[in-house]
Amino acid sequence: SSPALARAEGLIREIPDYPQPGILFRDITPLLADAEALRATSEALIAPFAGQFDVIAGIEARGFLLASAAAIVAGTGMVPVRKAGKLPQPAVTIDYALEYGTATIEMHADLEPGTRVLVIDDVLATGGTVAATLEMLEHLGYPVCGTSVLFEIEGLGGREKVDDHPLHTVFRNDH
Ligand code: PRP
Ligand code: MG
Repeated sequence: SSPALARAEGLIREIPDYPQPGILFRDITPLLADAEALRATSEALIAPFAGQFDVIAGIEARGFLLASAAAIVAGTGMVPVRKAGKLPQPAVTIDYALEYGTATIEMHADLEPGTRVLVIDDVLATGGTVAATLEMLEHLGYPVCGTSVLFEIEGLGGREKVDDHPLHTVFRNDH
């Protein structure tokens, strides 16, 4: 990995017991604030899928930040996958379980049929969030080239839950 990417990894801050006891929270705000780290991670997120997607779906809220930056670098647009009640014309609504709590996501269905989608989020934990997003895209009939996540928390079954499509993770908690 490049020096910029190595430095970016060091800019992910670990916060113990947030938002609940026993959860080690990965805070990417220091990485986002760093120009070189933001560019390097945006490039790393899209690199394995170059030429395979027409748009990037970013998952609210932290996935928005990375998906938008990555879309600019890739030269594509982005589609927000939103938490419930925020979109005027949701085409699909899906409930899913989180590492802490539950959530509901929705999206519009304005893309041309056949538009190839890359899914981006910041963290893969149990995989519930990405799995729900993939299910939604599948329901709408959009081809998904894969999923790219900045940080993979291993040992929670996330990879197994979502790797029916190609999965790329830039950083992992294994080293
Ligand atoms: C967090 C994180 C991922 C998801 C990962 O989002 O940003 O989207 O959890 O967990 P999972 O793999 O177990 O589904 P969260 O909904 O907590 O908050 P956010 O709105 O700040 O992104
Ligand atoms: Mg999230």
